[in-house]
Amino acid sequence: MKDRKSYIEENKDRFLEELFDLIRIPSVSAKEENKGDMLKAAEYLKKSLMEAGADNAEIYTTEGHPVLVGEKIIDKSLPTVLVYGHYDVQPAEPFELWNTDPFEPVVKDGKIWARGADDDKGQLFMHVKAFEYMVRTENLPCNVKFMIEGEEEIGSESLSKFLDGHKDLLKADVILVSDTTMIAPEIPSITTGLRGLSYMQVELTGPNRDLHSGLYGGAVGNPCNILCKMIASLTNEKNQVTIPGFFNDVLISSDKERAEMAKRPYNEEKYKKSIDVDALMGEESYSTHERLGIRPSLDVNGIWGGYTDEGAKTILPAKAYAKISMRLVPDQDSGKIAKLFEEHFKSIAPEGVRVKVEYLHGGQAYVSPIDSTEYLAASMAMEEAFGKKPIPVRSGGSIPIISNFEKTLGIKSILMGFGLDEDAIHSPNENYPLFNFFKGIETIPLFYKYYAESS
Ligand code: BES
Ligand code: MN
Ligand code: MN
Repeated sequence: MKDRKSYIEENKDRFLEELFDLIRIPSVSAKEENKGDMLKAAEYLKKSLMEAGADNAEIYTTEGHPVLVGEKIIDKSLPTVLVYGHYDVQPAEPFELWNTDPFEPVVKDGKIWARGADDDKGQLFMHVKAFEYMVRTENLPCNVKFMIEGEEEIGSESLSKFLDGHKDLLKADVILVSDTTMIAPEIPSITTGLRGLSYMQVELTGPNRDLHSGLYGGAVGNPCNILCKMIASLTNEKNQVTIPGFFNDVLISSDKERAEMAKRPYNEEKYKKSIDVDALMGEESYSTHERLGIRPSLDVNGIWGGYTDEGAKTILPAKAYAKISMRLVPDQDSGKIAKLFEEHFKSIAPEGVRVKVEYLHGGQAYVSPIDSTEYLAASMAMEEAFGKKPIPVRSGGSIPIISNFEKTLGIKSILMGFGLDEDAIHSPNENYPLFNFFKGIETIPLFYKYYAESS
């Protein structure tokens, strides 16, 4: 596969232009107004797959956003790699914090700046281009399928249902995903774990209307005050979650595993500096990467209620709300955790407020072994491309559909991501280094090669 680098070099401007056209489609899955853009993005990728050399690619409509499945079958007796990715992106708001238009990609300082530049359009497109390379240079060593969805950022409900009815269509030996990070451009890593998620919304209702805070304040329970107290009590002074039963199913890592994890390169000063905080905070007795990788967490994502507009308005609000998510680890079950949360949250509400708890979405955690054929293939591919053996790491993020792939399709996933923590995914000024984009295209064909050789 000597000509991998020269193929990339000769085509790199075209690769970027094509990616930029995909990025220009504002496929924000959370917004009704972008419904048409979801189909446009799926159609764009269908065209990309066909041009790259797929035998066929089909868009499946769902109750939500379309799912795209494409394939190239060269020999039924050979193994099949199923590539998963998502064409949907997070909302770009707040727009005023972007230095450039989020849906008009620009290259500056060696990086692509745009919503979706990394998560996941940039990372997904590396696979389309690696596939193109393998087809056009006759270096494709096995069968390939693509499964690309548009609801990852909102819970993957449609793809979840789709899996059940399309087990044959999606039959494969391994699922290959680039939607995670690596430690640094010069320190490759492979993600061996993802956290699960239970995402809740709570609503507290007090009086039947916003009241004058002079006439009523001090005499009537204030939903905003009460919500703050309730939320504050969800973690204790050791920063442990206090919901009864929350830790029951948490698998405890052995001292050996923890010692192994501690070897990962990590500079705490740099980490703090990158997010501009002078101290870190988390569960007592655990290191930063343990807190992220092997321990669950609870965070308020948003909290609102009462008057938040200009100036002062003296009211005692009728309602208060919060969105609260819990990141989970094996073997916590997201449905069970959601139930424990609801029961507990209702039980700690004082008289005088009514509480509504809603489960918005979630999914299970995922772990993958480091001695499987696919892990070793990914490891060899990265080692050859980066000149360094990748380090296995448990990530704090979630891709809930990955555990469904295992449960419904019976296929393990390999998480070979090329993003960086500092790419600002989900934030203003999301970016993706050109180095990572092209290195990804260079690495992926090596995965196919080593995987096909060893299976
Ligand atoms: N690609 C991310 C997840 C990710 C990023 C995992 C970096 C590991 C490292 C994915 O698009 C994402 O944002 N997932 C959501 C979950 C979803 C249910 C909204 C998340 O983790 O918040
Ligand atoms: Mn993603
Ligand atoms: Mn995301």
